[in-house]
Amino acid sequence: MDTVGKVIKCRAAVAWEPNKPLVMEEIEVAPPEANEIRIKIVATAVCHTDLFFLHERNKGDGFPAVLGHEAAGTVESVGPGVTRFKPGDKVIPLFVSQCRECRFCLNPSTNQCDKNWPGKRYDVSSDTTSRLKCKGKTLLQFLGTSTFSEYTVVKEIAVAKIHDSSPLDKVCLLGCGIATGYGAAVNTAKVQPGSTCAVFGLGAVGLAAVMGCKAAGASRIIAVDINKDKFQKAEVFGATEFVNPKDHDKPISQVLAEMTNGGVDFSLECVGNVGVMRSALESCVKGWGVSVLVGWTDVEDFSASPIQLIAGRTWKGSLFGGFKSNDGVPKLVNDYLDKKLKLDEFITHTMTLDQINDAIELLKTGKCIRTVLNVSAP
Ligand SMILES: NC(=O)c1ccc[n+]([C@@H]2O[C@H](COP(=O)([O-])OP(=O)(O)OC[C@H]3O[C@@H](n4cnc5c(N)ncnc54)[C@H](O)[C@@H]3O)[C@@H](O)[C@H]2O)c1
Ligand SMILES: [Zn+2]
Ligand SMILES: [Zn+2]
Repeated sequence: MDTVGKVIKCRAAVAWEPNKPLVMEEIEVAPPEANEIRIKIVATAVCHTDLFFLHERNKGDGFPAVLGHEAAGTVESVGPGVTRFKPGDKVIPLFVSQCRECRFCLNPSTNQCDKNWPGKRYDVSSDTTSRLKCKGKTLLQFLGTSTFSEYTVVKEIAVAKIHDSSPLDKVCLLGCGIATGYGAAVNTAKVQPGSTCAVFGLGAVGLAAVMGCKAAGASRIIAVDINKDKFQKAEVFGATEFVNPKDHDKPISQVLAEMTNGGVDFSLECVGNVGVMRSALESCVKGWGVSVLVGWTDVEDFSASPIQLIAGRTWKGSLFGGFKSNDGVPKLVNDYLDKKLKLDEFITHTMTLDQINDAIELLKTGKCIRTVLNVSAP
């Protein structure tokens, strides 16, 4: 069936309101407008940021929406002005755009392009325009992507074209979690050979940060999680020691300071909890310790003693691992194809889009690392 230029009716998981299960609905996906691409989603995974928005943020705005931002698919059709893509190309939608024109894209030290949703709506995490509708209502496109759907429309500046031989049910993970954690270690923290690192939170993001610390040559990688079931996987990615805060009655920063003669060189917070952010900072050694915030929250503010920073520690944050998205993702895909980067080991479950609420529950209860949902045939 030729769908070009027509509205596509397809299935999607709709988030009508916060704290409720997603509902599988027939939605309408409009044709792409100027500089947009309509993508057939082949595989998508669930990231904690979807869960955060649905169940933890509790601010009420930003609904109804189609969530999902860690995916891969093929181009169905392109809007006027699009020349870099053609139908059938394998692609990964990007929640951080790279327009190559704004002052952030022109600055080599950041990946915070200003042209997509973060330009205006960091808080609500969706743009005001959407090509998705259901029952006459506009569905907001979470992070500008909305991948819990058989089809979606994304801006051309927020799509990475990837190698033709890419297995989409694996490389979808590079649309968020793995690029985020890996890049937070290698790009943002700039982990040094021979250093000691601590990673707080061992979901896909934290495990990818462990993998990044190892790739950067860290000699000790301390994996910290309150769920001991995560330690075995952390070892697969290169963790050398394991700490469960539940096993200690003193602050975790003190435990790490005792293990490392005063603190770690680099710490990465991959939980999204302001208390853990503070512990991660305080776990760094004075003088040169660097702590990176990767976990996502806008619900609470953090606090720390200014002395921590005056004593020479650096506190920084990382969005999408600091990768300029369009340049970075195709290279990461090639690294996976060349067996330089692990992806398969993150996938603990595979399901179909209809099982999305089960996949969300697995992540919520800490029983999966990543569940990949097969959405449509490649
Ligand atoms: N900055 C970004 O660009 C970006 C991108 C993707 C995800 N994120 C965020 O990264 C975080 C991790 O995402 P994920 O998908 O890996 O989540 P996840 O739920 O799979 O993993 C979180 C892990 O943290 C552990 N944890 C919870 N409380 C803890 C504590 N007090 N101390 C130590 N460990 C604790 C959990 O047991 C779990 O293993 C989320 O906050 C997510 O929103 C940020
Ligand atoms: Zn994510
Ligand atoms: Zn830009």
